[in-house]
Amino acid sequence: MRALLTRIEQNSRLDRVGDRLQRAVLATLRPQWLKDLLHGVPLGHPLHPAMVQVPVGAWISAAVLDVMPGQRRAATTLTAVGTVSAVPAAVAGLNDWAALSPDQRRVGLVHAAANSVAVGLYAGSLAARFSGRHRLGRTLGMAGLSAASMGAYIGGHLAYKQGAQVNQSISELHLISAGWHELGDMASLPQRQLITREIDDVSVILYRHGDDVTVMLERCPHQSGPLGQGEVQQIDGHDCVVCPWHGSTFRLNGGEVVHGPSGNDGQVLPTRIRNGVLEARLP
Ligand code: FES
Repeated sequence: MRALLTRIEQNSRLDRVGDRLQRAVLATLRPQWLKDLLHGVPLGHPLHPAMVQVPVGAWISAAVLDVMPGQRRAATTLTAVGTVSAVPAAVAGLNDWAALSPDQRRVGLVHAAANSVAVGLYAGSLAARFSGRHRLGRTLGMAGLSAASMGAYIGGHLAYKQGAQVNQSISELHLISAGWHELGDMASLPQRQLITREIDDVSVILYRHGDDVTVMLERCPHQSGPLGQGEVQQIDGHDCVVCPWHGSTFRLNGGEVVHGPSGNDGQVLPTRIRNGVLEARLP
């Protein structure tokens, strides 16, 4: 399976389908508020992994009830809950998928295909159950669960091996040693301007607003874009930095993500000013 997934990662022939699907997703999911909602921006976490709990949980529960006597009605209800709830979960997944790197999109495409097969089989299972053919409904349900399990395995590879929608900047914290680190005189820091500095070879951005200074990891949580090269914009009365790579936007007074594709907040470091010198440390 690992070798197969590696081949999928490297198979650029999948891009012909993937590019077309990506264009369709981007053209369909246009409103920024909708994209942000589906990325999980209001939560500060990606939404898709949370949403898939509903169909997966319902389908597994339906499979358990299918082998118990007298539970046809409950199994049918759970099959319906799983099939219907898979649709918004898939839409959230597609929204995340469209902002991934090419190798991640290839694996994501196969993940989506396996899950589409699962939804199709469960829709067939539901139709069979409604028409009284419960044995066929059970068989199609088991086949659907197998396809969904394959989809989940591929999704695990996408998240844990390829790091899709995982906070890409957080591992930088492990490179910073404990204790306070000097970042320069306050007097030398200009107001409302992005400055880049380093703490133990980890790049951070500094943004001064009045007597406060925000110190945030420079790597964008989405795909490691250089936030220090981003544009500063005012959004809803807050100064924000816009990532130059895909436009994820983070508040400069707390790191909260304001616009995706990042579903994760920027990592801010605690600061203090001692004898006119700005210092930062690990949270
Ligand atoms: S790297 Fe993608 S938005 Fe920053």
